[in-house]
Amino acid sequence: MTNEKLILEAKKARASSRSPYSKFAVGAALVCKDGTVFHGANIENASYPLSMCAERVAMFEAVMHGKSKNDIVAMAIIADAPRPVSPCGACRQVMSELLNPETPIIMANLKNESIQKTVAELLPYAFEESDL
Ligand code: THU
Repeated sequence: MTNEKLILEAKKARASSRSPYSKFAVGAALVCKDGTVFHGANIENASYPLSMCAERVAMFEAVMHGKSKNDIVAMAIIADAPRPVSPCGACRQVMSELLNPETPIIMANLKNESIQKTVAELLPYAFEESDL
């Protein structure tokens, strides 16, 4: 799947965002080797810290469908942001465990701007299972 198509999937996911507090709707989509696409959007709560980011919803959805890091080809994220939306630190940590280090993360905004970085580029020297 092209980056453009995956960004479009993330945009579709964004429509399901529940973000009444921040009004910052984020969508994420990840594609697997078999072509399956999993979607996520941010889901906020009146108890703010209980809110969940779009990226983690998409990754957890993939895990729930039996996918693991070697099945996942790429993930795209989109928001109405001045620059392509950058994932938060918590999501980077989850990416570092659930995706491969070389997996591309395509960050986009509604102005048709996008940047691609690998998981390892987004979180170098990550804390991981082998550190326990
Ligand atoms: N958010 C995401 O879903 N993903 C990101 O990459 C950045 C931030 C959400 C969390 C919160 O619901 C809202 O955007 C504002 O921080």
